[in-house]
Amino acid sequence: MRVGMLTSGGDCQSLNATMRGVAKALYRMYDDVEIIGFEDGYRGLIYADYHVMKSSDFSGILTEGGTILGTSRQPFKQMRVPDENGLDKVEAMKHTYKKLKLECLVVLGGNGSQKTANLLREEGLNIVSLPKTIDNDLWGTEMTFGFQSAVNVATNAIDCIHTTAASHGRVFIVEVMGHKVGSLTLHAGIAGGADIILIPEIPYDINIVVEALKERNRKGKRFSILAVAEGAISKEDAKLSKKELKEKRKNGVVYPSVAYELGAQIEELTGQEVRVTVPGHMQRGGEPCPYDRVLSTRVGAAAARLIKEKSYGYMVCIKDGEVDKVPLGEVAGRLKTVDPKCAMINEAKLIGICFGDE
Ligand code: F6P
Repeated sequence: MRVGMLTSGGDCQSLNATMRGVAKALYRMYDDVEIIGFEDGYRGLIYADYHVMKSSDFSGILTEGGTILGTSRQPFKQMRVPDENGLDKVEAMKHTYKKLKLECLVVLGGNGSQKTANLLREEGLNIVSLPKTIDNDLWGTEMTFGFQSAVNVATNAIDCIHTTAASHGRVFIVEVMGHKVGSLTLHAGIAGGADIILIPEIPYDINIVVEALKERNRKGKRFSILAVAEGAISKEDAKLSKKELKEKRKNGVVYPSVAYELGAQIEELTGQEVRVTVPGHMQRGGEPCPYDRVLSTRVGAAAARLIKEKSYGYMVCIKDGEVDKVPLGEVAGRLKTVDPKCAMINEAKLIGICFGDE
């Protein structure tokens, strides 16, 4: 029996741990299973770049970040667009799958990758997918692997900033990953004791942010820390269409990211010295935290169980704290965002964290 496997999209700390979970369980379930590893995500499936994996490939990788298979971004929107040589990518993926006589394909991926997994399911392939992303923004699962490890890194960044911020009495902005969803920033911001947390789901008013900073000064606080999601947006900009926003950004001062724009505004409006820190891809690197190792082992083993049951067309998920499965058709194309009225935000507000909205 042959099972294909690939890791797709942005990497995270716990991809190897998850593949190890799938493989270890499969090797115990079947004497004759052969795992085919596709290189660099869907690219390997399209262009038939693969290798037969050995059980030893999965040893010693529980704690290793990155992915032993490599990954790449193959935008879902481009899947139906022929490549530069006129190759139909969807047909090519189906061809590779059939040529190798795969029983099924295991996909470890985030939002875009789940959409492609669903497309392949619709095209008749047997798919089992696994919820990967540091953003924890996949619909249908309470938790994604990679998220807790990234929370650790981002929190550590804020912790480090805390000591230097206290020495200098400055305003520090830490920009956290998460383009459309603020889960990572929310968790790292609370864990790191940020005074102000700005996330895409709650557009901010710069005057409210500035007032919160002034209030801290009045209380004699020497420094302030803002945890800002890379996708944070002002109330003003949130009202604009995509096109209008693009136009506005083209005509105004060009900042490397939202944190720098905010920094410039805060300096101008408060006269305080501001420093910006962007941990960036550090948040996806390093070893998986123990929570993710456990989660990855569990969802990996559960994927093998689905294969054993020939239960295809699902993403393994976490529901009510337990491992479960959700139809891929329900997951594809839907984002899980932070509810601005959720209990965690209410509690954060109770202790005085400002979200830039009130
Ligand atoms: O989806 C994970 C993520 O790290 C996002 O938080 C971030 O916006 C994006 O990927 C960065 O992508 P890339 O690695 O392609 O720059």
